[in-house]
Amino acid sequence: MNYYIITGASKGIGKAIAEELLKDENNRVVGVSRTNSLKHPNYRYQPLDFSDIEAVEHNLQKVFLPYKDAERLVLINNAGVLGDIGYVGEGMPNERFEFVFDVNVIVPAMLMNTFLEVYRTLPCEKVIVNVSSGAGKYPIDGWASYCASKAALDMLSQTIQQEQNVRGTGVKVYALSPGVVDTGMQEHIRESDADQFSNVQRFREYKANGELASPEAVGKKIVEFLHSTDKYNDVLVSVRDM
Ligand SMILES: NC(=O)c1ccc[n+]([C@@H]2O[C@H](COP(=O)([O-])OP(=O)(O)OC[C@H]3O[C@@H](n4cnc5c(N)ncnc54)[C@H](OP(=O)(O)O)[C@@H]3O)[C@@H](O)[C@H]2O)c1
Repeated sequence: MNYYIITGASKGIGKAIAEELLKDENNRVVGVSRTNSLKHPNYRYQPLDFSDIEAVEHNLQKVFLPYKDAERLVLINNAGVLGDIGYVGEGMPNERFEFVFDVNVIVPAMLMNTFLEVYRTLPCEKVIVNVSSGAGKYPIDGWASYCASKAALDMLSQTIQQEQNVRGTGVKVYALSPGVVDTGMQEHIRESDADQFSNVQRFREYKANGELASPEAVGKKIVEFLHSTDKYNDVLVSVRDM
């Protein structure tokens, strides 16, 4: 059996990945998020709010059950938030930095840590995919927390892959950029004020010109990627190159 633990499988890209995986009866999917919208005999939902670190810590054992029959175990850290769009030093509440980092960095790090620890002795194939962003590779005004959080996720992925290489575990770790995808996150971007994000008009045009990828198309590409990880040796990967 193949087990896929996907955060943020309730909407957008995460939901599309889960639905694509559930087409194969050898796959079991565990979805972790605040809400649920999936129902399938091979799907298990674990409610969790990543902005409540204490609750996450207390519920980790419910996410990572002892899957002794696993031939393949995959953790997909997909849940993510953009946070408030706006310039630092112009009315941004301080606690919003913590919120974005909790959801985008701290909880993914806790999940990777627990996944590697709990399944260390299982001899099956193990893969971690952290859904990152181009925004972690260059600055975008108005998105400081988001850009910094995705850069942190990229470096966590690279460091953990290096550690796994030193230990010779065979575990593969990726930070995957999905491209520009038609989800709630893009809606939130389009609604922002040009004074808070100078490039907002370009994002409105992406939608108006039909340039956004559908979550379904991107979910399919990510599942194809998961079936061919032997071809990908770099930690930083992009759906655009798949
Ligand atoms: N869409 C794009 O163009 C784009 C581009 C680059 C990177 N990405 C990345 O792709 C990933 C998925 O984004 P998306 O576009 O699919 O966004 P989305 O439609 O807004 O979905 C976000 C997912 O994250 C979950 N989530 C949000 N806050 C959470 C919390 N506090 N605790 C637990 N789960 C939480 C949501 O579930 P609940 O609401 O049920 O909790 C939801 O399933 C993110 O990491 C994002 O940064 C997206």
